[in-house]
Amino acid sequence: MSSFQEKNEKNVWLLSGVLAISLLVAGVVEIVPLYYLPDTMETLTKEEDNIRPYTALELEGRDVYIREGCYTCHSQMIRPFRDEKERYGHYSLAVESKYDHPFQWGSKRTGPDLARVGGKYSDEWHRQHLIDPKSLVPESVMPRYPWLETDMVDASGTEAKMRALSMVGVPYTDADFAGAAQAVQGKTEMEAMIAYLQVLGTMVNFQEGKDYRK
Ligand code: HEC
Repeated sequence: MSSFQEKNEKNVWLLSGVLAISLLVAGVVEIVPLYYLPDTMETLTKEEDNIRPYTALELEGRDVYIREGCYTCHSQMIRPFRDEKERYGHYSLAVESKYDHPFQWGSKRTGPDLARVGGKYSDEWHRQHLIDPKSLVPESVMPRYPWLETDMVDASGTEAKMRALSMVGVPYTDADFAGAAQAVQGKTEMEAMIAYLQVLGTMVNFQEGKDYRK
């Protein structure tokens, strides 16, 4: 009597059937929780909640961040563990990423987590660090990004990017669209990147000792 495994390996119809059932179950397990997504978001009080969509310049910075692959070395999600909180600050909330499409959580940390890097350093520090990380952190393995200093943001696509985001629920207004190109016109990619980095993790006024987890 051959085993179920053996039968499966020798009969393509049985294998297809078992595979189809497995995929169906796995699909349900992955998809059903998405229908309850709003329930997984923390509710914040008015005083705590300063969460807003990225400005045009921050959004362009976010796109340079993605283009340059910064996420391949940097996560943007602080887990609710003591070592992480002591190093990076308050653990990340789901609601903080509600306007991030795509979100930049990740898990690969060749460099430190950046979820709360906003306000940690001066703009000038970031500029110097992006041009030549080793000049500030001699042991750094982060690559240099000197071209950000001279490459300009392409203002012609900014409004379209914001309109695309509004289609997936980011509440940009007509005034945002109208001012988009002008807001990034003549800005370097460095300025955009720094604007983005400086806002990361700064949109919630956390209350000491409160547990935000659901
Ligand atoms: C090859 C991996 C790698 C890539 C790619 C990378 N970094 Fe880094 N990054 C590091 C490492 C390692 C450090 C820690 C040493 C240092 O500060 O330079 C770091 C540090 C940082 C810091 C300081 C964080 C802190 O809290 O001190 C910032 C900000 C930063 N990186 C931004 C970026 C941005 C923006 C990009 C993309 C343009 C990028 N990194 C790409 C590896 C990387």
